[in-house]
Amino acid sequence: MEQESPKNKPRHIAIIMDGNGRWANRRGLPRAAGHKAGIKTLRKIVEFCVAESIMALTVYAFSSENWRRPRREVGLLMELFITALNEQVDELHRHQVNIQFIGDLSRFPHKLQDSIESARSLTGGNTGLNLRIAANYGGRWDITVAFKTLLARISRGEIDVDQVDEEMIRENLALADLPEPDLFIRTGGDQRISNYLLWQLAYTEMYFTDVYWPDFSPEKLAEACDWFEGRQRRFGRTSAQLKRAGRA
Ligand code: IPE
Ligand code: IPE
Ligand code: MG
Repeated sequence: MEQESPKNKPRHIAIIMDGNGRWANRRGLPRAAGHKAGIKTLRKIVEFCVAESIMALTVYAFSSENWRRPRREVGLLMELFITALNEQVDELHRHQVNIQFIGDLSRFPHKLQDSIESARSLTGGNTGLNLRIAANYGGRWDITVAFKTLLARISRGEIDVDQVDEEMIRENLALADLPEPDLFIRTGGDQRISNYLLWQLAYTEMYFTDVYWPDFSPEKLAEACDWFEGRQRRFGRTSAQLKRAGRA
């Protein structure tokens, strides 16, 4: 779906926060230190988005493939998520941040599911920044869930196969209530999507930086936003068409 943001400011930013482990390795520290530093960075980035009145920020915290990591690292990440959520939720709430999660949460430890649920219910009515945390999320999982939902509705006779269109699929995907991401950022130097928002990124501007996530900062996010401002989003049209419509 075509969506354009006013004044070329991104309304919705989606980030793959990558490079924690390498940041730590480079300093001779355990990977855990990188993940801890990464949580601090996220905090600063959220504050920046609040101050800049960005509508939505979606961050990739744990992919459906990250279960393949050593069990110790996975366990440690879970502990860090629980601690960070519990420590920060009140302050985020004061800033009117609305915290929601996307992904299959059922595989997480119950303690984490409880923290997630209390963050969600505490902040669910907030009207500030929409912070979406992708946890045990995979773009293919997301599309599969939508597919199954629609198939179930078809088999119950509620809808007909011919009625299924892109809009109906979109409505059944994660982030359906938000405009699609305008700006995608991946830190850490790799240029891949790693099963992030496969459908939702169809027309997103892609920004890659070598900076490791713990070294990312509000200043660097501002640079990415400046880069975004200079992009011409054509959505399939020509530059001349956009000029005529006064959009360029
Ligand atoms: C991203 O950093 C955090 C998670 C995937 C949870 P990494 O842990 O992937 O760091 P690198 O890519 O190994 O440096
Ligand atoms: C992507 O990072 C997932 C998160 C940042 C949570 P990875 O480090 O897991 O990605 P790959 O496996 O290198 O593509
Ligand atoms: Mg990585």
